[in-house]
Amino acid sequence: MTSPAPAAAFTQDELKAQVGRAALDYIVDGEIIGVGTGSTVNKFIEALAGVKARIRGAVSSSVASTERLRAAGIEVFDSNAVDELAVYIDGADEIDGRGYMIKGGGAALTREKIVAAQSRRFVCIADASKLVNTLGAFPLPVEVVPMAARRVMRQFARLGGLAQVREKDGLPLVTDNGQHIVDVTGLRITDPLDFENEVNQWPGVVTVGVFAHQRANVCLLATSSGVRTMNFD
Ligand code: 5RP
Repeated sequence: MTSPAPAAAFTQDELKAQVGRAALDYIVDGEIIGVGTGSTVNKFIEALAGVKARIRGAVSSSVASTERLRAAGIEVFDSNAVDELAVYIDGADEIDGRGYMIKGGGAALTREKIVAAQSRRFVCIADASKLVNTLGAFPLPVEVVPMAARRVMRQFARLGGLAQVREKDGLPLVTDNGQHIVDVTGLRITDPLDFENEVNQWPGVVTVGVFAHQRANVCLLATSSGVRTMNFD
């Protein structure tokens, strides 16, 4: 007798689609919701398009997500037009067991932090490769005013980090806010709250990609055996 073939492993794209759909359980009917940026969020937007009548609209964290939301027929509101959002749904580059995250791989960290801050609940959607014990293996994105880039890079060198300006087509990448990104490797961020507080004080830093004050309340983690829910409240 032959044993059954092992279940096919999911591709990363399929895992992202699974958590994108699972996040629909967290949208609040009749409300405006916060929507993040990235390939996992793109799957969420695809799923959201199918139930768009349930929500009033969205506040978006990037030009790219705004375009996708509008193409799906979902109204996008200015963040200043909305006092508070019931929920914010976004991905992460790394998340630890306390809900602290590194974000900004898609260069949208500043608007992501703003929308997260105006939301009552942050639901992080990620595949299992993003779960870490200690933040820092993923290069930490930091949005900076261009004239401060070199100084900020020297400050990271004092912490043992190696920073470089992110480029696109051979030139410094320009964010939706007209700023630059430095990516920092070699860090081990054991106290994310303290780290975020410190870097926030450096002149010229617009946003550091550690989300400790705006940590996740819930993480929907796609694994090969299904979506695992982690609660951090
Ligand atoms: C964009 C982000 C994204 O949430 C993060 O980079 C994860 O992206 P993806 O879902 O494509 O893996 O912070 O600035």
